[in-house]
Amino acid sequence: MKTLLLLPGDGIGPEVTAESRRILDALALPGLTVSEGLFGGASIDAHGVPLTDETEAAALASTAVLMGAVGGPQWADVSYDRRPEAGLLRLRGAMNVFANLRPARCFAALASASTLKPEVVDGLDILFVRELVGGVYFGEPRGIETLPNGERRGFNTQSYSTHEIRRVAHVAFELARLRGGKVCSVEKANVMESGVVWREEVTRLHAERYSDVALNHMYADNCAMQLVKAPTQFDIILTDNLFGDLLSDLAAMSTGSLGMLPSAALGEAGTPGLYEPIHGSAPDIAGQGIANPCASILSLAMALRYSLGAPEAATRVEAAVEAALDAGARTRDLGGQLTTRQMGDAILASLR
Ligand code: IPM
Ligand code: MG
Repeated sequence: MKTLLLLPGDGIGPEVTAESRRILDALALPGLTVSEGLFGGASIDAHGVPLTDETEAAALASTAVLMGAVGGPQWADVSYDRRPEAGLLRLRGAMNVFANLRPARCFAALASASTLKPEVVDGLDILFVRELVGGVYFGEPRGIETLPNGERRGFNTQSYSTHEIRRVAHVAFELARLRGGKVCSVEKANVMESGVVWREEVTRLHAERYSDVALNHMYADNCAMQLVKAPTQFDIILTDNLFGDLLSDLAAMSTGSLGMLPSAALGEAGTPGLYEPIHGSAPDIAGQGIANPCASILSLAMALRYSLGAPEAATRVEAAVEAALDAGARTRDLGGQLTTRQMGDAILASLR
């Protein structure tokens, strides 16, 4: 028996997750139970915290979790450790999903939707492997203190140890063998000791086990530049939590819309995966029914492939999204007029 926990969350999260649910219902996979829980601001409103112990336990006991989005201006004033984003970090940490797969792929039908020239993004197909449960997001010490002179000081710690680097690098190298055979490892070893260790550990693992994969190293600032200048040079980009956050948004936008891109966060084999669109809760358009559900639906496809043991269903869902785009289906973010529901209908109609 497999279980999928839906955590629609806030803003456009529930709207886009509802479309994934319709796809799931249409697939009618035998032996799959789907349940739903409150997360983020929705959970703060109901329970005072963004992630209850019960929901955390349900996530850990499930086969996969599909999240919508969290956060919004309503919860800007809740204390820092109880804001919706804190719930997401707690969930990622509790599930120990250290490898975050963020494919940035330019669908042929959308090449002209990019703010970059079509010839620059044509064929763009990058897979970010972002470390997700370490680095400056989780490093200690952290905090805000008042200094003797009355000034305030906010501080965080960026740190990476051997095992944290090796386990995520393994994932990147293994995936490279299934794709274009190239890994670009990104840090700032020129100014950060954590980057020095990152570079050396990746190099060591590569020499030990993955010399068939082409490895190069790049400073994060240069990578940002290269992603705009010549993004098709990349196959897999392996990087840390913070650089991965920034660079994946950058690359996502060059594919046409943040509304298209899914993600998967994976831990040790046999543990549940966490799937979520890369986009946020988009409070400005929430409740209007115009959000693009593709990123959620493609995240569902990743869950089918990586956690739920249904790779054929995953391929069908991805093909349906592509077919709907080829047939001209477009939500606002893609320059069209379709509502979230109509986009879901178009994808459902293309599902074979
Ligand atoms: C992301 C988001 C999160 C992050 C936020 C919501 C905590 O931006 O998944 O990219 O920074 O990791
Ligand atoms: Mg982000």
